[in-house]
Amino acid sequence: MTIRRRSLLVHAAGSTLAALCALPALAVPGRVLPPMTDGPFYPTRRWRETGPFAAGGWDADLTQVTGQPARARGEHLDLALQVVDTDGRVADRAEVEIWQCDTLAVYRHPRDRNEPGQFDPGFQGFGMAGAGSDGVVRFRTIRPVPYPGRTPHIHVKLRHAAFGELSSQLFVDGDSGNARDFLWRRLDDEAQAALAMALQPAAAGDGLRWQVRHRIVVPA
Ligand SMILES: [Fe+2]
Repeated sequence: MTIRRRSLLVHAAGSTLAALCALPALAVPGRVLPPMTDGPFYPTRRWRETGPFAAGGWDADLTQVTGQPARARGEHLDLALQVVDTDGRVADRAEVEIWQCDTLAVYRHPRDRNEPGQFDPGFQGFGMAGAGSDGVVRFRTIRPVPYPGRTPHIHVKLRHAAFGELSSQLFVDGDSGNARDFLWRRLDDEAQAALAMALQPAAAGDGLRWQVRHRIVVPA
């Protein structure tokens, strides 16, 4: 941990000083992103491009669906992720995807409930964006809610030429459901710290309720 902190500080003296200084609240996780499976509700590219929700697009704002007048139900969350490697270097230009269920606990997926009234049409459910040169990628989504048998979580998948493809899940730090979650319980303290997002009340307006800056460490 000491080495990694020092490495980050040394790196901060370089070209990304401004970017790192602009994100002082980022916590440094203790280890590389613990891998997890995509689970049963990862929306395949083919379905995203041809399915009933294809026209809505899959951008970084999951709370706004094209053609839907109402924004997503739930507590809106400003989610900023910064991707750094174990040497403290920013992993710029990473491709990042997130997906999660809506406030009715429904995933935007062909195997979940898709009939009108069964899901929140204002929630995109899946989004993708590329990290900038500072390694930061930003989403607007909702605070995750419990799914039957699961504590609140946001699935995340990263792609980059340097490390390939990584999938995991982000949890809400301090959520009372974590202790009963079978995936959370398998994680040791460091892994839990790497995946626990410390949500804060949002400083900005615009309907936001929560914000979080979370650092994801990838293999160098
Ligand atoms: Fe899930």
